[in-house]
Amino acid sequence: MKGVTVVDHPLVQHKLTIMRDKETSTAGFRRLLREISLLLGYEVTRDLELTTKKIETPLTTMDAPTLEGKKLVFASVLRAGNGLLEGLLDLVPAARVAHVGLYRDHDTLEAVEYFFKAPSDLGDRLVIVVDPMLATANSAIAAVDKLKGRGATNLRYLCLLAAPEGIERFTKAHPDVPVFTASIDERLNEKGYIVPGLGDAGDRMYGTK
Ligand code: PRP
Ligand code: URA
Repeated sequence: MKGVTVVDHPLVQHKLTIMRDKETSTAGFRRLLREISLLLGYEVTRDLELTTKKIETPLTTMDAPTLEGKKLVFASVLRAGNGLLEGLLDLVPAARVAHVGLYRDHDTLEAVEYFFKAPSDLGDRLVIVVDPMLATANSAIAAVDKLKGRGATNLRYLCLLAAPEGIERFTKAHPDVPVFTASIDERLNEKGYIVPGLGDAGDRMYGTK
């Protein structure tokens, strides 16, 4: 699928299977999401631009590779995005963070915004939007709409599971935003949940219902 990368690394797939299992505890689920985010983070940052800077090793001077440009931004779609965010910040500790507070209305499945805070210079930075679940894509589209409205022009979308319906809607709405996911599942059910999926990611992370 154009613009979509499925991260099929065996460790990602193995960890995802444990996360899907309904018997996996809240603590286990959180730990696995953090671990998986490191592997997904590796893929989503694979082609970041490098430049060089002169450094002195104990033996000599050299032009050594270093990331080019301003620090990137991780934009976490609350709440569940924070599960990916924590691991990603281990990988890129100097990254800036945006928080996009959205919840899905259970009846309409529309995304309802309740919070937004982001660095003011989004237009100068790569923005990686993170949320484990891309279901109807209402939340993903709303989050990217909002970030673009605040100046972001260079974005990527990182999730753990996606529904084919959500991928289609998202790539139509934002064809300029590449999507990275660990799996494209079979379908959405009548309540807008991803099947086979893993349930409600926020509830499983935080032990709520
Ligand atoms: C979940 C998930 C996404 C959204 C995906 O969040 O983390 O943000 O649903 O569904 P969609 O693609 O149909 O919009 P939820 O609204 O349950 O909020 P939470 O993270 O606070 O639990
Ligand atoms: N949000 C979730 O957390 N899980 C789904 O399956 C769909 C939306």
